[in-house]
Amino acid sequence: MATSTTSKRGNWNSKIGFILAAAGSAVGLGNIWRFPTVMAENGGAAFLLLYAALVFIVGFPVMVGELSIGRKSQRNPVGAFRALSESKFFPLVGFWGVMCGVAILSFYVIVAGWTLGYFFEQIFYSAGWFEWAEWVADTDNGWLNAGVAIVFMAATISIILGGVSDGIERAVKYLMPMLIVILVIMIGYVLFQPGAGEGIRAYLIPDFSAINSDLLLAAMGQAFFSLSLGMGALITYGSYLSKKENIPEVAGYVTLADIGIAFMAGLLIMPAIFMAQAQGLTVFNEDGSLFAGAALIFQVLPELFHNMGGIIGLIFGASFFFLLSIAALTSSISLLEVPTAYAIDEHGLKRKTAAILIGSGVTVISIIIAFDTSLIGTIDFIFSDIGLPLGGFMLCIFLGYFWKMGNAKLEMEKGFDTINDHWFFPVWSIFIRFICPILIGIILVTTIINWLS
Ligand code: TRP
Repeated sequence: MATSTTSKRGNWNSKIGFILAAAGSAVGLGNIWRFPTVMAENGGAAFLLLYAALVFIVGFPVMVGELSIGRKSQRNPVGAFRALSESKFFPLVGFWGVMCGVAILSFYVIVAGWTLGYFFEQIFYSAGWFEWAEWVADTDNGWLNAGVAIVFMAATISIILGGVSDGIERAVKYLMPMLIVILVIMIGYVLFQPGAGEGIRAYLIPDFSAINSDLLLAAMGQAFFSLSLGMGALITYGSYLSKKENIPEVAGYVTLADIGIAFMAGLLIMPAIFMAQAQGLTVFNEDGSLFAGAALIFQVLPELFHNMGGIIGLIFGASFFFLLSIAALTSSISLLEVPTAYAIDEHGLKRKTAAILIGSGVTVISIIIAFDTSLIGTIDFIFSDIGLPLGGFMLCIFLGYFWKMGNAKLEMEKGFDTINDHWFFPVWSIFIRFICPILIGIILVTTIINWLS
């Protein structure tokens, strides 16, 4: 079994390295293509407020819990639960998390592959070679879908092979600043284009009448997915975190980075959608609702960039899909790191063997999905909408009633020596023991009832 006590585990080299890696995991396709359109559809700024509330009430406390468990146990999710309790049940929760990671990764690389495909499409189109806008995302072109996903997976594996500091940390140190610079420049440009104002209005004017229970479900699911919570990604990342760091503080930065970038992505995408509409492209369904995320990002926006034409169109189009690819890559590495760490810690595999073996296994699933992209919705529902909140719920129960809050406090005290006099800990315990599990529980049960009926 656990051979990890002898093998040397990786560590983040610096605080900023960890923050970038965890923020990189959080900021992904979920922020840039899902959040803005869900928000625009669901009451604009009203949704933003609801979402931000859930992120702080549920997401942030759970993140602090995951990091504490990871850093204390120095293990992957399965090993972590095993190390911290006698229970035979909780390691299974960890294993469920590892499974969720594998499942999410299998479709995540498909969508990530599309972003990569469109990066090339924009270049090829501008060069006048050919246009494959209709190819990617079209299941008649299964091999093209599979091909771009395989390339993307290979990039993910190659980073994971490098390990924690030489692989993940080094990659995110370049990729995250690049992402922010590209995003800011693109927002700066788009805000001054005709139609931008209308997009910003549609995005930001709150419509509180849109808030209902379905929306609460959507916001909760989005919060777990976007913060990469509920499957032990942050247990794993926390296991490489130095005992010098203040867990609530770093978790705060990661949370703010995630919401901040999701919000900024809207400032780019919403004006772009209205620009596209001003050019006569169809962006609304017949019932007046906005196109779904995938159709917008992979049909409307590529056309918009084509229409811009010339060098501007090329730069804009290529940068946009490059931005998405980077965001996806820093997230997919966190999804692959979890099962890899599990195989290393629990089964004594070498990192190289583990990453290649698991990466290839997931690729096989991805190839199947590439030929039937309708599977994405089903897998997403089971493993993201249900799986992640379920994992988060179990984590709260574990923290509050099995591992016990006192132990969490001892771990958090490292890097936070004033914890005994601080308001944070008592408040956090109330959230973890009562507020979070009750809220997650209600939302989870509602999701399942809605699904069954
Ligand atoms: N958070 C990423 C996004 O918003 C996706 C992601 C990466 C993820 N790692 C995760 C989701 C772990 C759930 C769990 O796109």
